[in-house]
Amino acid sequence: MKHFRAGCNSIRFLRRLTSTESTLSILTPFTQTNPFSCTVQAAISKRTMATAMAKRLEGKTIVITGASSGIGRSTAKEFARTAPKDLKLILTARRVDSLNQLAQEIEEEVGDGVKTLVVKLDVSNPEEVKNFVPSLPVEFQEIDVLVNNAGLVKGVAKAPEIAPEDIDVMFSTNVTGLINMTQAVLPVFQKRSDGGRGDIINIGSIAGREPYPSGSIYCATKAAVKSFTEALRKELIASRIRIIEIDPGQVETEFSVVRFYGDKHKADAVYAGCEPLTPDDIAEVIVFAAGRRENVVIADTLIFPSHQASPGHMHRSN
Ligand SMILES: NC(=O)c1ccc[n+]([C@@H]2O[C@H](COP(=O)([O-])OP(=O)(O)OC[C@H]3O[C@@H](n4cnc5c(N)ncnc54)[C@H](OP(=O)(O)O)[C@@H]3O)[C@@H](O)[C@H]2O)c1
Repeated sequence: MKHFRAGCNSIRFLRRLTSTESTLSILTPFTQTNPFSCTVQAAISKRTMATAMAKRLEGKTIVITGASSGIGRSTAKEFARTAPKDLKLILTARRVDSLNQLAQEIEEEVGDGVKTLVVKLDVSNPEEVKNFVPSLPVEFQEIDVLVNNAGLVKGVAKAPEIAPEDIDVMFSTNVTGLINMTQAVLPVFQKRSDGGRGDIINIGSIAGREPYPSGSIYCATKAAVKSFTEALRKELIASRIRIIEIDPGQVETEFSVVRFYGDKHKADAVYAGCEPLTPDDIAEVIVFAAGRRENVVIADTLIFPSHQASPGHMHRSN
């Protein structure tokens, strides 16, 4: 009787859990010793059935730009974990070694239900973007989701001291790159019924909503992303193409290392006394947005860590 109660409690506990992985690791010792383990096993198999989100994502082909690091890398893993049985992931960035490493980690973690394709792609190069879709293997050409994540910030200079090459790289990556990728993939979506279907998920930033000093160009690029995203959603209103924007606040990635031209010491100082978001926090929101029912559009989200209320409004413990 005592065991049975323990079993019921565990089943109730199980129902509260969302992660199959944590369910299994908690219950394996219990099921080995408990006579009512078959009841628990039944509960486990319930939890291991695909969630509604996993079912919606199954069979999809997803392109992620900037998958070699940070938010893009986490997003690839989160998609793979959410729909591990049947998914195709096209992992793109300039650093192919990091992408190959990511593809290997995904295979080790979820097995061969997730097919990965690594593509070296510099989104700031219009020719490379133009050739991207036509050069995909046929089985990867039916793209369902584009995550326009590749982006960067360079420097903290103020006008008139901003280096022209920094202005160019931020605009050609964050704005022109994102627009060119969108234009490259949209025709794939528009061939489908109902005016087309598919998801464009643009990674904007709090910087696109509230510009701050020493970040004027980056802020301008993210404001451009917001304008483009909102206009696009209106242009495609008669279709089933969902236009989604995700705006993170402070996330600890390689972002600040890139801003300070590789100076890790300066990058670390950005997060001193704060608890920034992790790239996984943003990845979960991206996958959630892609995993909604077709008629649900998570048009816009702003995600802060709890210490942040604007780019400059930050509580620090030191
Ligand atoms: N971290 C934050 O606090 C924060 C806040 C708001 C928004 N965001 C946005 O989130 C997105 C991801 O940034 P992150 O924080 O994850 O930074 P990250 O760790 O530096 O990752 C940036 C990714 O973009 C890729 N990338 C840069 N230039 C590229 C190019 N020309 N072509 C293709 N890929 C390129 C990088 O890959 P390669 O170098 O291998 O090409 C890398 O994979 C960016 O759009 C950023 O603006 C970040």
